[in-house]
Amino acid sequence: MSTSRRELLKLAVATGGALTVSGLLVHRTSVASDGGGQVPAAAAVGLAPVAAPFQVAMPVPPVLRPQWISGTTDYYSLPVKPASVEILPGLSTPVLTYGGIFPGPTIKARSRRRTVVSQRNETPSGTSMHLHGAVTDPENDGGPMDLIATGGERKYTYLNPQVAATLWYHDHAHHLEAEHVYRGMAGVYQLTDANEESLPLPRGAYDVPIVIRDIALNEDGSLFFSHDFFTRKQILVNGKPQPYFKVDARKYRLRVINGSNLRPLDLKLSDGGEFVQIASDRGLLPAPYTTTRLPLSPGERADIIVDFSRYALGTSVVLENTMLASPSTKEIMRFDVVRKVADFSSVPARLAELPATEEPVNTRTFAMSMDAAGTGFMNGKVWDANRVDTTVRWGDTEIWEIKNLDAQIPHNFHIHLVDFRVLDINGVPPVPGEAGLKDTVRVMPGQTVRILVSFKTPYAGRYYYHCHLIDHSAMGMMANLDIVR
Ligand code: C2O
Ligand code: CU
Ligand code: CU
Repeated sequence: MSTSRRELLKLAVATGGALTVSGLLVHRTSVASDGGGQVPAAAAVGLAPVAAPFQVAMPVPPVLRPQWISGTTDYYSLPVKPASVEILPGLSTPVLTYGGIFPGPTIKARSRRRTVVSQRNETPSGTSMHLHGAVTDPENDGGPMDLIATGGERKYTYLNPQVAATLWYHDHAHHLEAEHVYRGMAGVYQLTDANEESLPLPRGAYDVPIVIRDIALNEDGSLFFSHDFFTRKQILVNGKPQPYFKVDARKYRLRVINGSNLRPLDLKLSDGGEFVQIASDRGLLPAPYTTTRLPLSPGERADIIVDFSRYALGTSVVLENTMLASPSTKEIMRFDVVRKVADFSSVPARLAELPATEEPVNTRTFAMSMDAAGTGFMNGKVWDANRVDTTVRWGDTEIWEIKNLDAQIPHNFHIHLVDFRVLDINGVPPVPGEAGLKDTVRVMPGQTVRILVSFKTPYAGRYYYHCHLIDHSAMGMMANLDIVR
């Protein structure tokens, strides 16, 4: 175990005390009584009470403007820096940001056009920006050991050799990623392509990112960070507490991102109304999938079309979470239907052509588990930067069988660089909304999930796979993947 890791564990145990398996996220019967601010652990540390819902408008994160644009490339500057923001009304909260805002600005990119992001680290610790879901070379993947030192600068270059998708960028510095992301280091990266642009889907002001996460704040407005899930009772959407969003009576494309460290979501509309899922993590589904629920674990994304024209003006509909939901974490945000407008958008029956899959040449098994001290294990081992855990041949297609050995703790599984298809969950094929291109998949307690992964990608080298309940990966549930040509 490295010194920094031992120190971190000590620190976590000393400050957390609450570092129990249950706090690290467990399905337990007392979840039902996980009521707003009433759990003793929360009271003991003087947490701010959860804000009243629907008091503030939902902001849409600003789109980052390029510093300059060449024929081939968009150049951005995005410093990593501390800032103070208003999360709860009237309280100021010190956070760690990209570009001074919480969450970070949205970067818009185009398939096969180059994006260059220049970064200066103005925070007290080393940072590493990972573009989650990106097909990028190892040098620009933002690996855990590839740190920008305090005061240091570097450029990340993304060639974007992939189809349109909702990606997100976030910190990945070893053992600090969970705290960094928790304190604000994350933002949306919207990648489009010619196919998507040819479709009559809602766009412009009707294409909106919805970044959902939970948080715990001290009474003075500062962030309370521990690995204890049950302290995080305040839901934020795009950085604001359970906001309302005034919508026109027409179709919207909502890019829903679970940006929580630990909280799995299972979303529905309060009236049980239908919506249409058009994309998963790594791009458009082949065909729209009409549904009434959207499960989304940390790091997963889904684009949905909600048609608010079915509601009378003046109607409010709440986006609700039904998983591990306490009174304060059930209501995510409220849509208020305020205006009649014309709507020329539509959802075509065909959205995208998925690449053909190849026959697998190999099957590997992976097991995720956690001990009572909160240490995370991938195949029984704690992450070690210097160990090669898995070597695959470039170009191969493989089946990866992933098990969650814990009876009560949810996990999920994310692989850098590649996308994959979910074959089955406990032997049952996925619903159409989860049968498209994925890079993160839920593996609930006791479950076995099989995925089909192709390593025929533009790149090779050192990558990573890990649980994206990011407190778990920070505590060891991560491994190194070498793709060799
Ligand atoms: Cu979104 Cu390795 O992470
Ligand atoms: Cu990733
Ligand atoms: Cu996990």
